[in-house]
Amino acid sequence: MCGIVGYVGSKDALPILLGGLEALEYRGYDSSGLALVRGGAVEVTRATGKLAELKKLFAQRAGDTKEPATQGIGHTRWATHGRPTETNAHPHSAGRVSLIHNGIIENYLELRASLEKQGCVFKSETDTEVAAHLLNTLLEKGLETREAFRQMCQAVRGSYAFLAIDQKTPGHIYVAKNSTPIILGRGEGESFIASDIPALLPHTRRIIVLEDGDLADVSADFIYLENRGTPIERREEQVTWDPITAQKGGFKHFMLKEIFDQAQVVGDTIRGRFSIETGAIMLPELAALETAAQRLRRVVLVACGTAWHACLEGKFFIENFAKIPCEVDYASEFRYRPQLFDADTLVIAVSQSGETLDTLGAIECAKGKALTLAVCNVVGASICRRADMVLYTHAGPEISVASTKAFSTQLIALELLGLFLAEKRGVMSADQRRSILEMMIHVPAAISAALKVEPQVIAAAKSFCTARDFLFLGRGTCYPIALEGALKLKEISYIHAEGYPAGEMKHGPIALIDERMPVVVILQRDKLLFEKTLSNLKEVEARGAKVLVITDAADDKTLGVVADSIIRVPYVSPELSPLLLNIPLQMLAYHVAVMNGTDVDLPRNLAKSVTVE
Ligand code: AGP
Repeated sequence: MCGIVGYVGSKDALPILLGGLEALEYRGYDSSGLALVRGGAVEVTRATGKLAELKKLFAQRAGDTKEPATQGIGHTRWATHGRPTETNAHPHSAGRVSLIHNGIIENYLELRASLEKQGCVFKSETDTEVAAHLLNTLLEKGLETREAFRQMCQAVRGSYAFLAIDQKTPGHIYVAKNSTPIILGRGEGESFIASDIPALLPHTRRIIVLEDGDLADVSADFIYLENRGTPIERREEQVTWDPITAQKGGFKHFMLKEIFDQAQVVGDTIRGRFSIETGAIMLPELAALETAAQRLRRVVLVACGTAWHACLEGKFFIENFAKIPCEVDYASEFRYRPQLFDADTLVIAVSQSGETLDTLGAIECAKGKALTLAVCNVVGASICRRADMVLYTHAGPEISVASTKAFSTQLIALELLGLFLAEKRGVMSADQRRSILEMMIHVPAAISAALKVEPQVIAAAKSFCTARDFLFLGRGTCYPIALEGALKLKEISYIHAEGYPAGEMKHGPIALIDERMPVVVILQRDKLLFEKTLSNLKEVEARGAKVLVITDAADDKTLGVVADSIIRVPYVSPELSPLLLNIPLQMLAYHVAVMNGTDVDLPRNLAKSVTVE
């Protein structure tokens, strides 16, 4: 997965492209590059490492050229084929062509062999370079640029967002999309292209989201569009996102800002979606479920990573509220197993980005056989366009690779979905729904209160930050939170951590416990779970572990005896405990990572939106 930008107009393209790449750096950051069109010539500059390295090159050259380039394309890469070297960085050039690509060309080896036979000499190890050579070869045969670009796309198998420049047709950027996002932005006498909205926001709010099979010939004043060879028009949309929401807002890292955004975005996600007076859940976007809800016999939740943890919580909502058997599956596993479901099954894909390839693949497998629903944060994302229905979370742009606020909005959206299904199936009275909703409206304030535990979390992080292994334990709805706490710590601090159901620990992981192993126990107020988890905690304490308890339970003397530190968050309701108990875990991961000096927002080897298998 990579970040792509393009500009054609009358302004200096360089700062526009570099600014766009900066906004997209979360999509890939092992190398970057630009192709600028100046006076009919194309200049390509590439650098390995973060975007700062590319910027340095341009800073060194400042003043070398009098005429600013008014057209260009840029790329920030996350390697799939070929190491992160300068030669493998985009744009790739071949003859008249400069081209950038996000995606994977599956038939690149056969294309490369055939092009080599025709005399093409390859410089990189990438799949992308075949597209550049193929396009140039077609141009050399005398084809007009748009037609050559069309034929190149037809020859390629796989996923792509391509941007290409032909030296002989300055003023045009050729764009194509298949299974990889790309958006066009319109200005006055200028056009923009980007993989994602934040890169466009400083320049325009008028966007066109391209669909699979779309090809665009973009110039300053005009955008020609076709889909699989047929000229089309696509609706221009107005983006309402505030550009400041895509900035760090004064925090040291996007991750911390996003943790602190949670009261706001959880409120945004529930606002206007229910009536406290009647207990009705108002989700008109799920109209197709109103009648189908009665006949549903099974729900399958699919996702990856943090979104998969949200699904584990979703299972509780759907089974407890709507009384429908519910399974949770990793999207990458689900898509390659026999699909033994029918029209009475609802398959729900949960994804922040809406672009995760495995989750997209899962929804594609289910499409046509079962009812499909996406719970997603990005309007118009690929998963949303494939699913029969979409329930949007309103977390706003999540920039940090480690997902925090998206997770909380997924939990609350899945709770609303559980209540909606319960209402439509007639298995929960209006009074019961009302009492749950009455607690739900207090969640934003409770999150704000939970965020105040940061000083205690910092103290705990100080005592644990040198540990090399962590264990996170929880029962019931706190088990997914244990998994999520461990994942967050692994992702950004590179410390090994495991999440385990507290009751399962005695069947193996207990062997790992000694005084060097911090154990984080997530303990909710629920009487049965509290008592049972407390017994497990005693087992851990007896083996010398350092114990940090995160709880929403009232003060308990026993707890003080077995725990080294206790962090308390407000209690709202049994269903919403996990959302609040997760907040100190997000902060713990963040502060341990900061203390260990890692790159919190751009952790090594990870990318925000995983559009490869
Ligand atoms: C979370 O911190 C991760 N970086 C990752 O697990 C993520 O949740 C996963 O890749 C799924 O992404 P999605 O929600 O955009 O589909």
